[in-house]
Amino acid sequence: MDFVPLCMNQRTLSILRLLKDGQFQSGEYLAGKLHCKRATISRALKNIDSYGVEIVKIRGRGYRWINPILYLNRDLILNCSSIDPRKFNITLFDTIDSTNTFLLNNLENGMIDNNCVPVVATEYQTNGRGRAGRLWHSGFGDSLTFSFGWRFDQGVSALSGLSLIIGIAVIRVLRSFSISCVNLKWPNDILYDNKKLAGILIELRGEIFGPSYAIIGIGINFKLSDITNSFINQEITDLSSISDAYLDRNQILSALLTEFLNILPVFVDYGFAYFQKEWISYHAFERQAVSLILPNGSVIVGTFDGVMEDGSICLMTSSGRKSYHVGDISIRLNSL
Ligand code: BTN
Repeated sequence: MDFVPLCMNQRTLSILRLLKDGQFQSGEYLAGKLHCKRATISRALKNIDSYGVEIVKIRGRGYRWINPILYLNRDLILNCSSIDPRKFNITLFDTIDSTNTFLLNNLENGMIDNNCVPVVATEYQTNGRGRAGRLWHSGFGDSLTFSFGWRFDQGVSALSGLSLIIGIAVIRVLRSFSISCVNLKWPNDILYDNKKLAGILIELRGEIFGPSYAIIGIGINFKLSDITNSFINQEITDLSSISDAYLDRNQILSALLTEFLNILPVFVDYGFAYFQKEWISYHAFERQAVSLILPNGSVIVGTFDGVMEDGSICLMTSSGRKSYHVGDISIRLNSL
């Protein structure tokens, strides 16, 4: 299905908040709360299924949100035991174009301070962005979509390997929630059973000799609706399909933020080399036969053989061991 970016109006968002307990609410009650007519409520919910939100209307009872989400909530994020609440400045939106774009647009305001890390999370993105100019799709509250900013004293060229260690942090956290068997596809796609579970978009800004700034955006599929699935043209999965446990986005976000605070200073001090073995241990296709398709269209066939200390991926080819670290390489598993 073609994706048409959708904006949710404020009234629709307010109605959802009134329905978030999953109980029936009459049109009259909703209209009274929002100081509008009942017909306005009906109109505001007309295309709600396009956002992956399922609401039933039953005559005489009203409206009910069938599978309401547990909203992102600053207190729930910051009250988790592991997190230090003073270290984060969290902004939550019901809807925004893209959490990465929001932070990029606010870089000028000097808001990237590692002593109080800016974090932006949202229930819905109207223009979620993926790597290589692709779109990143998710429905209302069906994913964890957030970004944070980090300041480095070094210049951008010293940050090779950054995208790989962010992948490591996500894997560590998912595994700590007993979501085992999650792996990495170079440089940092999170896979389960070779299907994409989460993606990472890192955008760098700054001076050659520093300082530099990374806007690090992460999307983790939680419980994708059929409509969201229909927009995505690759093999994907979500946490609800691979885990029986009830997983709260607030808790996972809290654990991720704590892990970033832990891993980034180690990366700054020791570089990617410190994490090389760990990354290889999570590599989904290690020792497997693959084809790399380079940005210029050339295809390299070989067997994956780890990563270099700068985060380049290594391939054993017919002409020896080669490493690659160029832009958007696409990777295909060669069938046996
Ligand atoms: C990819 O695998 O292509 C990267 C996907 C990154 C998606 C996240 S969702 C939160 C943040 N905001 C965006 O617009 N993109 C990232």
